[in-house]
Amino acid sequence: MVLISASLLSADFNRLGEEVNNVEKAGCDWLHLDVMDGHFVPNLSFGVPVIQSLRSSSKMTFDTHLMVQNPDDMISWFSDAGSDIITVHLEACRDVVRTLENIRSLGKKAGISLRPQTPIDGLKDILDKLDLILVMTVNPGFGGQKFMSDQLQKINDIHNLIGKRPIRLSVDGGINQQTSKLCINAGADVLVAGSAIFKTTDYAANISALKK
Ligand code: DX5
Ligand code: ZN
Repeated sequence: MVLISASLLSADFNRLGEEVNNVEKAGCDWLHLDVMDGHFVPNLSFGVPVIQSLRSSSKMTFDTHLMVQNPDDMISWFSDAGSDIITVHLEACRDVVRTLENIRSLGKKAGISLRPQTPIDGLKDILDKLDLILVMTVNPGFGGQKFMSDQLQKINDIHNLIGKRPIRLSVDGGINQQTSKLCINAGADVLVAGSAIFKTTDYAANISALKK
């Protein structure tokens, strides 16, 4: 089953709680929380207090995407804030196995993300440590960018690499009614979408159209 993870980055920050309630009511499965540190990516977003405060009013799976350099020290913060899944970037980890084990030791699901330029070779030896692989289909840092279709082959290669393992394959960046279908055909089973949900007027209609 294809799941939708709504990226909070494109929500109206003046009405965050309401926005989260609205996507949840509209049938969204997960809430995607993009944390940026101004180092790993050239942007800052939000952090622990925002996630913690939204946690109390939502039952959605909190899918935290850490776009930060050296995430190790922060993992317990985002675990305590109520994340269900914590995804780190392969390019940002000094010892990726230790980082993924740390996430799981806190009872959370562990994800790894790859920038568009990063090859998939680094995934082969860590598959048994992973619950989710997040393929970036834009350069991370900003919402509202154009989908990079050269990532479709990579999505399919990762899909084949995963095989029957219980690992979710998620795509993030530029997902809309057209690119969602290309990603599903390539093997993705989680679609992260920001603008294609929050920049529209009918969240429910757009969420169900993305799944088709
Ligand atoms: C980009 C973020 C994405 C982004 C997606 O660095 O990881 O989650 O918010 O936004 P859209 O769907 O608008 O491309
Ligand atoms: Zn993201």
